[in-house]
Amino acid sequence: MMEEIKNVKGTHDVFGDENNAYEKVESLMKSIAEIYAYKGVRPPVLEYNSVFVRGVGQASDVVRKEMYTFADKGGRDLTLRPEFTAGIMRLAIQNKLYATNELPLKLYYVGPVFRYERPQLGRYRQFNQFGVESIGHNSPMNDVEVIVLAYTILSSLGLENVKIKINTLGDEASRNAYRTALKEYFAQYIDNMCEDCKSRFELNPLRILDCKVPEDRLIIDKSPKIGAYLSKESKERFDAVLEALEALQIPYEIDQGLVRGLDYYSETVFEFHYKSNKGNDYGAIGAGGHYGSLMKELGGPDLPGVGFSFGIERIVSVLSDNELLNDIAYELDAYIMPLDKSLDLYAQEVAVVLRNSGGYKVDVCFDNVKLGNMFKRATNKNAKYAIIIGEDEAKAESVVLKDLASQEQQTVKIEDLVDKLDELYESSYPEEEEK
Ligand code: HAM
Repeated sequence: MMEEIKNVKGTHDVFGDENNAYEKVESLMKSIAEIYAYKGVRPPVLEYNSVFVRGVGQASDVVRKEMYTFADKGGRDLTLRPEFTAGIMRLAIQNKLYATNELPLKLYYVGPVFRYERPQLGRYRQFNQFGVESIGHNSPMNDVEVIVLAYTILSSLGLENVKIKINTLGDEASRNAYRTALKEYFAQYIDNMCEDCKSRFELNPLRILDCKVPEDRLIIDKSPKIGAYLSKESKERFDAVLEALEALQIPYEIDQGLVRGLDYYSETVFEFHYKSNKGNDYGAIGAGGHYGSLMKELGGPDLPGVGFSFGIERIVSVLSDNELLNDIAYELDAYIMPLDKSLDLYAQEVAVVLRNSGGYKVDVCFDNVKLGNMFKRATNKNAKYAIIIGEDEAKAESVVLKDLASQEQQTVKIEDLVDKLDELYESSYPEEEEK
């Protein structure tokens, strides 16, 4: 027997209504990013391995355990991107975008990323991110702008009261002082902590704060907090961010344990969390922060940046749980139903008029099935109107237009059809007209 062909573990197919949800969510994200003056970029999925090893950091879990890295047939050491930010820096450096554009350089992106993680609720091996990067200015106002942008997108999708967890990792001097304090503190306990904590103790003690093992948590909860080790500049910078968020009425929660999994962060870091109405917690639906020396690390100029990425799968899951995808379901303006094969060409002409002159989304039934069956199809396709074409209508260059909700119907001349539909749509949404 032939082996069953299946999708790869940790990947998922997207089709039907779910695909419409992805399209709609991504296009809303793009359009809001454009309002904030960000421009789209499309970096390749494949990069040299060194982009992520140097960019995301040798000590990060992503680089240590989760990358899809392989040698291509030419012996190149390549990686399927596990995130966008490092690749965006490579793109900006190589194309000298920082020199030919006004700074900050404001870029957005959307596409698949790959991480070899253990699949579970909200966690895939291939998933999609939408994100932005604002590169070249060190003002805390840029941090604020990207947080407001992310919050606006989530509210526009209908997700009210998203929880923003925020922290600062300070500048290099602050982080060095904090690292030393953590090392001193954890040295007394590390022998009894988990294996992950042990390697993090050596590689980057800040990452121990992310450990989820309950016994280790008891130790971690009593560990020193970053606040006490911040330089004056970093403290003032963070205060400026918080003050602006308050002025703009963006709610936040300081979480001194928030350290983020990628090594390039400095100063402000944040995550967006949302528990769906069904009680599902898919993990952070988005996250980001400021990075002081990522661009320099990758061989570019010494320019800081700030950005965030959303996990599209997690956001679509939350929207689906909260029944916020209903209006995203596929909807036809009209389903055209010729009653006989000989009327197919006329039906095609009617469809062209409605699509090209009216901009209406219509489909035609060329299957020559019974009328009842065609009505069933119109309902399944979530059509607002049925357009029925019999011989008499064709002769009179007209159609029967039927509102599938009210069941009211009328005969309309083909030359009046677009105007008639415009008129019916306007009268069914009178409140929009008043605006
Ligand atoms: P990240 O926190 O690694 O940050 O990922 C961002 C978002 O991607 C997460 O909040 C989550 O929603 C989603 N995500 C992560 N892993 C998975 C997974 N296995 N399955 C499904 N969704 C997932 C970054 O990637 C940074 N590049 C963000 C950034 C941009 N920082 C500055 N600029």
